[in-house]
Parts: sequence; structure tokens; C-alpha cells
Amino acid sequence: MNTYIAVIGLGYVGLPLARLLATRYPVVGFDLKQERVQQLNQGVDITQELDNQLLRAVLVPEHPVPSGKPGLYCTSDPEALKGCNFFIVAVPTPVDEHNHPNLKPLLGASQTVGKALSPGDVVVYESTVYPGCTEEDCVPVLEEASGLKFPQDFQVGYSPERINPGDRVHTLVNTVKIVSGCDQPTLERVAAVYESVLENGVHRAPAIKVAEAAKIVENTQRDINIALMNELSIIFGRMGINTFDVIRAAGTKWNFLSFHPGLVGGHCIGVDPYYLTYKASQLGYHAQMIDAGRFVNDSMGGYIAKQTVKKLLAAGKNLHDSRVLVMGFTFKENVSDIRNSKVAQIVQELQTYHVGLEIVDPCCDPQEVMTEYGLQVSNAPTGLYDAVVVAVAHQPYRALTRSDLQQLLVPGGLLVDIKGILREQSEGFTYWSL
Ligand SMILES: NC(=O)c1ccc[n+]([C@@H]2O[C@H](COP(=O)([O-])OP(=O)(O)OC[C@H]3O[C@@H](n4cnc5c(N)ncnc54)[C@H](O)[C@@H]3O)[C@@H](O)[C@H]2O)c1
Repeated sequence: MNTYIAVIGLGYVGLPLARLLATRYPVVGFDLKQERVQQLNQGVDITQELDNQLLRAVLVPEHPVPSGKPGLYCTSDPEALKGCNFFIVAVPTPVDEHNHPNLKPLLGASQTVGKALSPGDVVVYESTVYPGCTEEDCVPVLEEASGLKFPQDFQVGYSPERINPGDRVHTLVNTVKIVSGCDQPTLERVAAVYESVLENGVHRAPAIKVAEAAKIVENTQRDINIALMNELSIIFGRMGINTFDVIRAAGTKWNFLSFHPGLVGGHCIGVDPYYLTYKASQLGYHAQMIDAGRFVNDSMGGYIAKQTVKKLLAAGKNLHDSRVLVMGFTFKENVSDIRNSKVAQIVQELQTYHVGLEIVDPCCDPQEVMTEYGLQVSNAPTGLYDAVVVAVAHQPYRALTRSDLQQLLVPGGLLVDIKGILREQSEGFTYWSL
């Protein structure tokens, strides 16, 4: 049987996947956002996750299923999904204001797929979810929208995405992919599709729930380990010890795990553990350790802002007259993504002290920051500041020299170096890092 693929949700995850699959299969890329589809059809990915040349190389102007030829056809018309027989869902799975899973996009996409589903089709979910979500939450929507019965009429699988935004070394094509299916033939069918485009193959998980859990554990593990480093950094701060020095020393032991303190933002590490704790609490278990990690990491923005204010006051500054420059706004280094950026927490906390604030970031879209957070991102620094908060370790910030910093800070000014990247350049300034 020929495989005609549909990818639902052409974001950070869906687009690179659709592009890769389109080198081998006819692929319909579907996204609700018409503007996104228009940009993609012009060969432009504004997330910069995908090289525009690679995108342009696979784009086709007409529906690829009739011809059966490989290529990517992007559309926001759900009718175009008809005729596909292998659906991959890669839509967002955020949390709501109570940090509970918001399954609206996922269930909405399931409904869209359900309407295009025919007997014998497979639906694979890539969105990060709690164990059980695919079969307990998504399958009923597929059944209702399609009028088909699971598992006899259609089958499902789950294959978590493991991309690391901004990472050009560990990529979709060279990272082993976990695959799973509702039964053995489906597992093999799902594995065969992914294996045909990946360099390092797949890992066959024994059940969908296992694959769902594996993904959420990857991110929860990182969250907790970073939370431990953040807590240590609060403790060591009181002891006058630099945490990065401690980690470098402890890291000489063969089994020491390399984690560093920092802000945990974005849509994965800071969000996915809530999916797990939500499901755990539904099953009557209160996940204290995971919650504690979330609490520590979610407190770091406020902590950093308060440390900045304390140091300014200790230096005899009047807060209302102080000028503070925040460098970096994205949720991590060298990406344009500002979703759930914890730099916003620092800024919002500093604003409560009425310091004069400016923000710069070479990677983000200032308009997006204004729309999402109501904050102004300036093109460039203006004059000298009493404090500079280097919040994100973007490559150009790593390369700052002492003389660059002298162009930004008043003599003896406060350098808040969250990621500890500028310590060597800090002579002559008041230095603080996590
Ligand atoms: N970005 C990452 O680094 C990453 C890594 C691993 C896993 N994930 C997971 O993958 C999933 C997708 O994340 P993302 O970062 O690609 O999200 P994204 O916001 O970049 O993209 C999602 C796309 O889906 C579209 N969309 C939303 N609802 C839709 C619907 N009902 N039908 C069709 N399209 C719809 C949006 O318009 C958007 O373009 C999430 O569950 C996320 O947790 C993300």
C-alpha cells in the first residue's frame, strides 16, 4: 500500500518532520494559521528551525496524492487531508492558567483528522502528552468525527519528538526516534515510515503509554536536575561560593551529571512535567518531587530580579534613577522563540521596583514580544547602564569582551551574568551570577 502522509501542525516540530518525510513521500502539511501556510508556500520558515533552501526543495504547488510523487503541499484547507492514509499530529500541548493540560489544540486536530479518516488509516501523535492521552482522550474524538471504530477500522501510534531548538548537532534526522503502535502490525507500519527517513533508526516501545511516558520523563528529568542546580545556587550564593566553580570541580568525577542553573522557560521542559503531575493527581498521587522542581524553577526569575535590586541598593543607587539593561529575551540561547520566556519574570519583577529598564535581543521579533508580553525590545543599547543583566547566552553575548562591557556599564556597574558566561570579562565591575 502506498503511504500518503498528512502532518497536522506545521510548527517547530511539524515543519521539519513534514519536510523530511516529503523527500520520500507525498506529504500534505496542514496548519490552521493561514499566514503560516502562506509564508511556507513562499519558502520561508520564520522560526528558522528549517533552512529555507531545504524547504523550497520539497515544496510542490499541487496536491501530491494524485501523482503519488514525493513533495510537500502546505494548506489550511482541511479538505486537502482527504486521500491521506498516514496522519501525524504535531500541534501544541500547552498548560492553562492553573498549569493544567490544555488539550484544545490536540482534540481540535483530532477532530480535523477524524473527518478525513478512512478505514485502514493510521494516526500518529507527536505532541507531548501524559501517558494514556492518545488512547483515552484522542481516540474517542477520532471515532466520533470519523464514525469509525477503534481499533478495527483505524489504528493509532505515538512517536514523541525530541528536537532541541537551536541545536544543529542533535537533529531530527540523526536522533533515534521512539515509535509505538496500538498493535504489532501498526508498530511495524509506523516504524517503517520513520525508519525510511532517519539516519539512526527507531526504538520500538512496547506500548503507546510507554512512548508517551518516555518523552515526558526526558523533560521532567531535566527540569528536576536544573531545579537542583538552581536551589544549590541559592544556597551557594549565601555562602559566597560561585556555583559554576562548584560544578566544574564536581564535574571531574566520572559519574557527576552535567546540569547548570538557569531559567527554565519554553514550551517543553517547563510545561511537560505539569502534564505528568496532572495525570498523577488524577490517579490519587501527589507528585511532590516533580512539583518541587517546578516551584524552584518557576521562582528563579523573581529571585534574580531581587538579587539585582539588592546589589544596586548595596552600591548606593537610587532605584528610580537606575538604568538597567536586560540582554536576551528568548526562552533559550540562539533561538527566536519567546514562548514562556522566564526573562519576562525578571523584567516584570524589576518593573515593580520602578528601575529604568531597557531590553535588547538580537534573535527575537520585537513585535512579537510587544504582542505577547506588552514589552518594548530596543534595537540597541543607549548609553551607560547601572546594571546589565545578561539573561540569555546568545552567541554574540558569549563573545562580549571587557571593553564591550565598558561601553555598556558605568565604572563599577553591576554585571548580572545569569549563565556565568562573562566572568573572565568582569574585572572592574560588580559581578553576580547564579
Ligand atoms: N518545539 C520543540 O522543541 C518541541 C520538542 C519536542 C516536542 N515538542 C512538542 O511538540 C508539539 C508541537 O510543538 P511545537 O513547538 O511544534 O508547536 P508550534 O506552536 O511551533 O506549532 C504548532 C502549530 O500547530 C498549529 N495548530 C494548532 N492547532 C492546530 C489544529 N487544531 N490544527 C492544525 N494546526 C494547528 C499552530 O498554528 C502551529 O503552527 C507540542 O506538544 C510540544 O510540546 C516540541
